[in-house]
Amino acid sequence: MGLLEGKVAIVTGAGRGIGRGEAIELAAQGAGVVIGEVDTDAGQAVVDEITAAGGAAVLYVGDCSEIDAAEGIVRTAIDELGRLDALVNNAGILRDRTLAKMTPDEWDAVIKVHLRGHYAPTHAAINHWREEGKPGRVVCTASTSGILGNFGQSNYGAAKAGIAAFAQIVAQESWKHGITVNAICPAARTRMTQSAYGDRLEVAAEGFDFWHPDNVAPFVAFLCSDASAHISGKVFGVQGDAVELYRPFTSAAAIENGGQAWDPADFVDKVGALFAETGIDPAAENGMARLRYTMTERG
Ligand SMILES: NC(=O)c1ccc[n+]([C@@H]2O[C@H](COP(=O)([O-])OP(=O)(O)OC[C@H]3O[C@@H](n4cnc5c(N)ncnc54)[C@H](O)[C@@H]3O)[C@@H](O)[C@H]2O)c1
Repeated sequence: MGLLEGKVAIVTGAGRGIGRGEAIELAAQGAGVVIGEVDTDAGQAVVDEITAAGGAAVLYVGDCSEIDAAEGIVRTAIDELGRLDALVNNAGILRDRTLAKMTPDEWDAVIKVHLRGHYAPTHAAINHWREEGKPGRVVCTASTSGILGNFGQSNYGAAKAGIAAFAQIVAQESWKHGITVNAICPAARTRMTQSAYGDRLEVAAEGFDFWHPDNVAPFVAFLCSDASAHISGKVFGVQGDAVELYRPFTSAAAIENGGQAWDPADFVDKVGALFAETGIDPAAENGMARLRYTMTERG
């Protein structure tokens, strides 16, 4: 008996990569799955794969960052599969470039697909659960590119850090309604990482294939299940066989001025105490150097 027997879940961007693995795993765990995609062929292939294996899946073609499509995908779950228990916001795109060269279109496209692509389906799903008085599970897809900060991804990182904040805030708003909202920062070999890292995430020659995209799915299935009802507003790193728990932004040190407003010139001498106390480098840092599981070192 699977962890999601009798449940119904939506996965946006489920036609390939991490979303495909999530949809197949949710179905294997007993859930009926709505495959949300802009790419009809890719989405239909996943529906066919799930149904051939004896599972239940339907395709909804639409851009999850459009309100009509987001409402349509929630309606499809209810009308065609009978209910909705979990929403996995996974769809995403990249338009990498340093900020100085980034066009308004590159900025807007990434912010829209990721941030509005989380807002719109989550808004529709949460209002459905609240109207029905039912619990629900939302899994958001953030990224270490946002919470640690990756060079050349100011649009994507801003969206992904925003998604981590979104999950944490909507979790607070939804807790008393029995709706949990968590975020994952996945890492896997997909079309998306191929475009950013080339062939550095090689297929393991033998044994466990650490960077296989399907490795993200088991923890997402757990977060979609009743067994995770006590976990909300958290950000997890998920890759290979590793699941990490991220600590939220936390104040690390403070300076005060004896109950008086500061004069800007005071900081010339005083601000150093913040860095001395914490060991934090005041210069711009490569946050990705703090990754525990780095794509470049594992091959
Ligand atoms: N692959 C990684 O290592 C990695 C790391 C961090 C975060 N992520 C995030 O994981 C998610 C999945 O990434 P992936 O690597 O599997 O990418 P991918 O490019 O392989 O797959 C993304 C899928 O989303 C679909 N899609 C794009 N925009 C859509 C929209 N507006 N509506 C519906 N579907 C849409 C695409 O057609 C595609 O099938 C993304 O949110 C990505 O930012 C991935």
